[in-house]
Amino acid sequence: MYIRVTVCIRAQGTRGSRNLLCGAAPQRALCLTAAGTVVDGKLEGRKRGESTGVRKRGVDGRVRSFEEIPHTGRNGWVNLVKFFREDRFRHLHKHMERTFNALGPIYREHVGTQSSVNIMLPSDIGELFRAEGLHPRRMTLQPWATHREIRQHSKGVFLKNGEEWRADRLLLNKEVMMTSAVKCFLPLLDEVARDFCRMLRVRVDREGRGEERKRSLTLDPSPDLFRFALEASCHVIYGERIGLFSSSPSMESQKFIWAVEEMLATTPPLLYLPPRLLLRVRAPLWTKHASAWDHIFSHAEARIQRGYQRLSSSKGLGSKAGAPGAQYTGVLGQLMGKGQLSLDLIKANITELMAGGVDTTAVPLQFALFELGRNPEVQEMVRQQVRASWAQAGGDPQKALQGAPLLKGTVKEILSCC
Ligand code: HEM
Repeated sequence: MYIRVTVCIRAQGTRGSRNLLCGAAPQRALCLTAAGTVVDGKLEGRKRGESTGVRKRGVDGRVRSFEEIPHTGRNGWVNLVKFFREDRFRHLHKHMERTFNALGPIYREHVGTQSSVNIMLPSDIGELFRAEGLHPRRMTLQPWATHREIRQHSKGVFLKNGEEWRADRLLLNKEVMMTSAVKCFLPLLDEVARDFCRMLRVRVDREGRGEERKRSLTLDPSPDLFRFALEASCHVIYGERIGLFSSSPSMESQKFIWAVEEMLATTPPLLYLPPRLLLRVRAPLWTKHASAWDHIFSHAEARIQRGYQRLSSSKGLGSKAGAPGAQYTGVLGQLMGKGQLSLDLIKANITELMAGGVDTTAVPLQFALFELGRNPEVQEMVRQQVRASWAQAGGDPQKALQGAPLLKGTVKEILSCC
């Protein structure tokens, strides 16, 4: 029996979070579930006898068995009906908060085809992460995995486990996580951020109220932040601007936004239902989900083709992506230039990065704006420090970030609460 252990970061806000199983507003959420797999009641993830650094005793002085973990009812289908009836998919964070209060900081839940162990306390989550070892086992987002299988696409790191996951992940780290990579793509992010601020300024001037230079405008920032995150992701990943800040974004870009939103919105309910059965009965929910993914893949495919052409012509000119002095053309260009991952794997991972980077960027930004908005003194301190640091950085965004620890602190604080 395979059961997922779900790590829960409590969501306090009212809009999206990373966590489908416990975050807010799952219509725009991906999954944070990030933990071990319970096989026949035992947590897998390390070889027997290896030191895990895990607390050996439970709260009452002994380790509890899997069966002893409190749960919300054994019948997954009854629970699923309750989820639908009480619209819990949309208010999952509230349901989880109630359940943690009622059952304690670790509980089990069986909903439809999905079983999870939900963990609330950061210290318990830390223990779990430490126990996972080199090959952590991730919760499979079954609807995503089924889409890849039926369309015969490769899977990216999000959907892989074990050695295969680690090998691909180490290659991706070099292009996405390492300081040298971040240094390359920061200027691309900076360009998008500047354009975003310019667009907002124009809108405030045009639609705001009050005297010139002191105009104010009340707006719901979430669609704009979503577009910002998508534009920034495309620039970093594909090395391409898709023009989402223009007053009339291209049809292709609008369709892409629609596809990402549709894919995210249809994921939560599908998590608890068997996708293969839904596929067989041609359930509209499944069809929508799969078509959204198809669109996201064809968007990636078109960019990969373009990247390929660009790469071939730059090779003709004697420069290779990733080589010192070569122009930086985004994560895709780097991966293609180095040629260590197959084209199929590049497509799979690029698509996951696109899908994974949008709501996760937009939602914390919205939380940050909200918190800074209601703490104007903190806002002013952060702004002063950013301005001073920028003035000293000589146009180097990385240097400017290093000189603005309050900004980093703000992001950390925000991530701990969304
Ligand atoms: C504040 C923003 C973000 C949060 C809170 C967040 C959260 C998470 C979490 C909790 C996981 C699971 C980690 C694990 O399994 O150990 C994850 C995985 C992942 N995230 Fe993010 N993420 C964020 C931003 C992003 C961005 C911007 C991207 C893409 C550009 C992204 C792409 C991915 C990918 C591809 C994985 C799978 C990694 C793997 O299994 O190796 N995430 N994210």
